[in-house]
Amino acid sequence: MSEYVAKGSGDTVEIPNLVIGKHTARLPLVQGGMGVGISLSGLASAVAREGAVGVISAVEIGMSEPDYRENKREANVRALRAEILRARELAPEGVIGVNVMVALNNYEEMVSTAVAAGADLVIVGAGLPLGLPALVADSDTAAVPIVSSAKAIQLIGKRWDTRFRYCPDAVVVEGPLAGGHLGFSFEELQHPETVRLEDIVVEVMEAVRPLEDKYGRPVPVIAAGGIYDGADIARFLCLGCAGVQMGTRFVATFECDAAEEFKQAYLRARAEDVEIIRSPVGMPGRAIHNQFLERVQTQPEKIKCRYNCLRPCDPRTAPYCIADALINAKLGRLDQGFAFAGANVYRVDRIVSVHDLITQLMEETSRHLAQCPSPPEHGHRQ
Ligand SMILES: Cc1cc2nc3c(=O)[nH]c(=O)nc-3n(C[C@H](O)[C@H](O)[C@H](O)COP(=O)(O)O)c2cc1C
Repeated sequence: MSEYVAKGSGDTVEIPNLVIGKHTARLPLVQGGMGVGISLSGLASAVAREGAVGVISAVEIGMSEPDYRENKREANVRALRAEILRARELAPEGVIGVNVMVALNNYEEMVSTAVAAGADLVIVGAGLPLGLPALVADSDTAAVPIVSSAKAIQLIGKRWDTRFRYCPDAVVVEGPLAGGHLGFSFEELQHPETVRLEDIVVEVMEAVRPLEDKYGRPVPVIAAGGIYDGADIARFLCLGCAGVQMGTRFVATFECDAAEEFKQAYLRARAEDVEIIRSPVGMPGRAIHNQFLERVQTQPEKIKCRYNCLRPCDPRTAPYCIADALINAKLGRLDQGFAFAGANVYRVDRIVSVHDLITQLMEETSRHLAQCPSPPEHGHRQ
């Protein structure tokens, strides 16, 4: 347990640990994996050092390798391994995860690389990771799917149980307010009140109960999407979540691996700039509106696919190359790319250190948890 003293009140409220498989983070907080160079070892290690879970995204992680364009596959594998080892060196006691998208063409290879390099957990979304237990077998790496519905975790849980006798080590539930690609239809996203994260996490907790009973251990449920401050964190812990995952807040930190211009786009964003886009991979995504996004709508670019990165992308019909756009954004060239961001990005008004961000979040959480009718237990859901 971590003790944070709620400022002004003198109350001390214990904040529960987050136990995932064989790994325990002191704080119930996960920094969401953010692809194409936004969360690498710099951000992940800073977060892990503070006692939360730091997550490296594997998506196009090799973009800065000299042979990336000719030898993309090997460059990605090499860079992922190097980033995990670097994060481990910078945060030897911390919990380090790797985020991989099922939709990646070399998804299995990237998961196996993360496992071999000693990642504490793999967090896998953008598709159903039905074969994931085989990839983490005989390792200490925990397997954590990302879902957006109870139905999805039911399917995954059933397959893992019957085929592998494996119970998910935790599950991240990503709601409609998250940044990046989203697991909802455009229609649902127009009416987010019909797919509230608060409702989905409760349904997911129900859905994993039979697995918890069968395997005799809790399946920690981690809420993600639109969680902005300690009041939000406390609300989800009170609902019975074991932790929360946050992305947008961690972009606005000194340690985030994106270019300064990317972070400045967050500071400039107003509520009306946040939009749902149709990503070239066919899924909706949430991003900050800019001239690039406006231009490609009316003037699609001619794509010469150099990356072959995502299974659902068809370069013959895609209006632009999403890998190029996101690489440009990460490097600060926002006239040739765009920034993914969560629905609350317009509230970000400064760049802070990871230490200050997490300290503030935990103080707020502690204060709000004091009002929770039945405070969450250590490392377990109620
Ligand atoms: C810039 C950015 C990139 C992201 N990239 C990925 C990704 O590659 N894979 C993934 O599973 N989620 C990705 N996400 C989602 C985050 O991991 C996280 O779940 C989400 O941002 C939580 O919502 P919040 O931003 O409102 O806190 C991304 C989010 C952002 C803001």
